[in-house]
Amino acid sequence: MSPADGQRRDAFPPGFLWGAATAAYQIEGAPAEDGKGRSIWDTFSHRPGRTAHGDTGDIACDGYRRFADDIALAARLNAGAYRFSISWPRIQPEGRGSANPAGLAHYSRVVDTLLEHGITPLVTLYHWDLPQALQDKGGWAARDTAELFADYAGIVAGALGDRVRRWITINEPWVIANMGYRWGQHAPGIRDVHQATATSHHLLLAHGRGTAAIRAAVPAPPSGGAPTEVGITLNMTHVYPADPAKPADRELATDVDAQMNGVFLGPLIDGAYPARLGADYAPGPQIVRDGDFGIIRAPIDFLGVNYYAPQIVGVREDGIFRRGDTPLGRGHAVFVHPDGIPVTAMDWLVHPDGLYELLVRLRDDAPGLPLYITENGAACADYVNPDGTIEDTERIAYLQGHLRAAHRALTAGADLRGYFAWSLMDNFEWSHGYSKRFGLVFVDYGTQRRIPKRSAEWFADVARNNSIPVD
Ligand code: FCB
Repeated sequence: MSPADGQRRDAFPPGFLWGAATAAYQIEGAPAEDGKGRSIWDTFSHRPGRTAHGDTGDIACDGYRRFADDIALAARLNAGAYRFSISWPRIQPEGRGSANPAGLAHYSRVVDTLLEHGITPLVTLYHWDLPQALQDKGGWAARDTAELFADYAGIVAGALGDRVRRWITINEPWVIANMGYRWGQHAPGIRDVHQATATSHHLLLAHGRGTAAIRAAVPAPPSGGAPTEVGITLNMTHVYPADPAKPADRELATDVDAQMNGVFLGPLIDGAYPARLGADYAPGPQIVRDGDFGIIRAPIDFLGVNYYAPQIVGVREDGIFRRGDTPLGRGHAVFVHPDGIPVTAMDWLVHPDGLYELLVRLRDDAPGLPLYITENGAACADYVNPDGTIEDTERIAYLQGHLRAAHRALTAGADLRGYFAWSLMDNFEWSHGYSKRFGLVFVDYGTQRRIPKRSAEWFADVARNNSIPVD
């Protein structure tokens, strides 16, 4: 329904950016096309037992070849912006040295096609597909990788910066450090606390060095032209104590908040790690060098926020875990799934208030910093009906709930500038392979046919009207 139908709607500010997001390894396929080098995800997904059903990104959505059709799909969503990532090993197959012209030419065509549709590109430089050659030298646990990232960022910004205004250096350093190097569910599959803490620091350093490299490489805008904006995307959450009346639960919530949010927000905003991070999460003096925080906290133009779910944490003092508990690996501390809060197909809690809490916290902790929600969405058990439709009503409810929370935060003074749904289309969901569908558009992997879901229509209406229905 449009506003003309008299439906009650919450309006977003003029110029609010509506978009959808993807990432290179999750959609592109074409793992060796045009001189691409191997990435850590090419290696990892081919190792037995690492992904659901042994799925790999070898074909994925065949997005490398079908990008023009997929951008046309984004245009049908009335997207004003599209967030995509660049595969580092397409640009530098070995992670260093001169650029591969065919790789740059590909992304240049992607940018031109977006602009032809009037869609603003938001480019993520690193969404997890490190060149394998750099992993062979220690990956993100090695400080050199941060310097090499800055070279790569400068190459891409130099080639695309005349047309791309908005840049994200790194996507979700928490996931890279912890899922990749601490617990090993993601590439490169390492389980080592020291490598994990080194990785989180080196990712921040890469962000700082990369930011400077982008600013140096981008050609100056023509007078009156829009300036370049650089930011980073963090996966953030709001951490609730299971029982706010219990001091142990409140203490635990504060610690988990430091480990998930503060470990990156602290250095970026305040130039220091939070005091209560603990040895397992705080990079030690052998990793942090003089001057690093000056590089890391160099001003950014926006913060990208990926929000999916809150965390609820508590201490089971009787030592007995309940249904829905996940141990934190520290005494009797657990993540709690209380009865009555719905979950998505990822088993992630659906609780839009957590997004509100997070946005108003950022309003207070990072005053003056514009925010974009660079990912938000839900995995659902989608299927195609006999008549060809996909009625993903839970996804629509999820999006609507979170957009209402975002709207409330805007009203409360959060400087939110845009919202990107994850994802434009179903894709390779990392260790879950193709078993989890997050798209607004359904992908039939056997034929590569794309079918917009009901949520795609819903989103197109929201983006067209710059407002959400509230009933
Ligand atoms: C985020 C990732 C994104 C996607 C969503 C579901 O952590 O950035 O690539 O996998 O989760």
